[in-house]
Amino acid sequence: MTEIRTPRLLLRRWHDDDLAPMADIHADLQVMRWIDDGAVRDLDRTAGDIERWEEEWDEEGFGLFAVELLASGELAGFTGLSVPEFLPEVLPAVAISWRFGSQFWGQGYASEAAQATLEFALQDRGLDRVISINRVGDDASENIIRKLGMVPERTTVHPVYGYPLHVHTIDLTEFEA
Ligand SMILES: CC(C)(COP(=O)(O)OP(=O)(O)OC[C@H]1O[C@@H](n2cnc3c(N)ncnc32)[C@H](O)[C@@H]1OP(=O)(O)O)[C@@H](O)C(=O)NCCC(=O)NCCS
Repeated sequence: MTEIRTPRLLLRRWHDDDLAPMADIHADLQVMRWIDDGAVRDLDRTAGDIERWEEEWDEEGFGLFAVELLASGELAGFTGLSVPEFLPEVLPAVAISWRFGSQFWGQGYASEAAQATLEFALQDRGLDRVISINRVGDDASENIIRKLGMVPERTTVHPVYGYPLHVHTIDLTEFEA
């Protein structure tokens, strides 16, 4: 099952009409501040991103969910699972991540989607461990990580950008769904 409903959200695969709202999210410097080199992304780059995210669903059986607000049908961003190929030292591993439009921050949507994603990882995909990787200083992500019950695993350095990263982990066999 690749569709999940939470009290306020629909987590689902990507549709063609997600491109414009996701490109708006990627055009916001505030959103991109802690991601890769901090640069905004244009429509073409976002289209390539969505294509790759959908390929990961087909290849791995998990991926990044488009997160839609049930009340309005708006695309708020994504939360989901991916293989963190950019950081070979942690592999094999599956990582949880999130990215929401800034107008959707501060309402608990990312935490609600992340909780549902961990339940999906355990119950639907049978994963026993999920990690998270964030740039040191990204306190909003660390707040979610803490609330999920993830624990520090290591501090390391981004292989391309050279800045420090925190890696957290959760043993899903002890996760309270
Ligand atoms: C990381 C990111 C998703 C966090 O967003 P966020 O709005 O802080 O997180 P949430 O949606 O879970 O909202 C949490 C806050 O909403 C508020 N809130 C309001 N209503 C709420 C509700 N019903 N339930 C829970 N929290 C609620 C709380 O203040 C809560 O903060 P607290 O846990 O300190 O009390 C967001 O900052 C983002 O998209 N950033 C850009 C992308 C990025 O950096 N991604 C990470 C790269 S590794």
